[in-house]
Amino acid sequence: WDMMKMIISEILKNSKILKMILPATKVFDCSVIDLSKVHTQQGNTTVAENGKGIPFDVKRVYYLYDVPGGELRGGHAHFELEQMIVAASGSFDVILDDGKFRKRVSINRPNLALHVVPGLWRELDNFSSGSICMVLASNQYYEKDYIRNYDEFLSHKNNE
Ligand code: TYD
Repeated sequence: WDMMKMIISEILKNSKILKMILPATKVFDCSVIDLSKVHTQQGNTTVAENGKGIPFDVKRVYYLYDVPGGELRGGHAHFELEQMIVAASGSFDVILDDGKFRKRVSINRPNLALHVVPGLWRELDNFSSGSICMVLASNQYYEKDYIRNYDEFLSHKNNE
């Protein structure tokens, strides 16, 4: 019977029917990582390679661009997804929020990546004209991994 319970619990977890738990992470768990750059007379090169300074294996890359001036992006939290956010061009701000503390991080160099752990609310604003926000993500796109309502996020965080 114990074996049966374990198998059923695994199946429910995998199909995400069991309530997902938002990790008790804090804004201070996020840091800016210098991917460094190779500088030559022909220009700079920055590399993001699995197993070399990135805290997770990259399964997806996406980028935000042509963001209209004054626009706010993000506005969600993830249960499991880990990300590295890079200003491939221009600059923007990332606002991190763990339900208690808020932290604004300015991203403005193509060799710097903000590591965002799961369980945090994030918003992006202050996009400079022509900026490109490139995101390296630890998993494929999965809508059930998102919380898109701030009050819902807070109630998850307060129930930890
Ligand atoms: P969305 O997550 O709403 O943007 P934001 O980063 O501002 O919260 O994504 C914008 C649209 O793109 C939305 O319709 C979902 C879609 N999308 C995908 O199809 N795949 C992806 O990997 C991502 C990140 C977004």
